[in-house]
Amino acid sequence: MHIPDIIIAIDGYSSTGKSSFARLIASDFSFLYLDSGAMYRGVTLMAIEKGLIDADCRIDIPGLSDALRTFDLHFSKTQEGSMTFIGDRCIEKEIRSMEVSSKVSPIAAVPCVREFVDMRLREFGKKKRVVMDGRDIGTTVFPDAELKIFMTADITVRAQRRAAEMAAKGETVPMEEVMENLRERDYIDSHRETSPLARAADALVLDNSRMTLQDQMEWLRGIIRERFGGMSD
Ligand code: DC
Repeated sequence: MHIPDIIIAIDGYSSTGKSSFARLIASDFSFLYLDSGAMYRGVTLMAIEKGLIDADCRIDIPGLSDALRTFDLHFSKTQEGSMTFIGDRCIEKEIRSMEVSSKVSPIAAVPCVREFVDMRLREFGKKKRVVMDGRDIGTTVFPDAELKIFMTADITVRAQRRAAEMAAKGETVPMEEVMENLRERDYIDSHRETSPLARAADALVLDNSRMTLQDQMEWLRGIIRERFGGMSD
């Protein structure tokens, strides 16, 4: 199947499997995968390490804005796929910790942080053949993306997925705490002033509560055939 030169924008709630789906799309279609959440997580890790956010999530905004000026956050291909780096330090594992998860939403609500991430994402998008996942890709970062998907799933399914992901990395967190963190992030992400999580009017809704990754790929191929049919072989 020929895949046209498009941008695929995937938005949705936390732990709906956006990044697993986006990674699979990237490898099946030979697209570049950009995990915008990882960028917000990278900024959060830096803010924690530099003491720019405290235990009550109070943020030193001028300090953060200053630090972003020289912040070398990027993705690099490794044997295990695309990973997030600060300089030559791989931070992929640290940015998935509970501490970063509990502070990332307030950091992602800061306008200078959003500007920093958006600018980088747009640079990558110029070449097309990219799949990006986040909260505002189809509404703010790439409002003209050729294909927009909005992902959702039951909160219990999402909490189970998140807990399993953390357990695989050796972090055991009670299910209730995981669920609470998800609810809190949903709320902050959907209610912040700058680029809140929202479904673009032209986004297709994908509820994957009862779908495997393969089911989702099949669904996507069907959509591509339907939309860009003339370009498939
Ligand atoms: O997808 P994730 O859980 O790794 O994202 C981490 C946080 O980053 C999430 O709580 C909201 C924020 N985020 C955002 O505000 N906008 C994006 N495009 C992507 C993520």
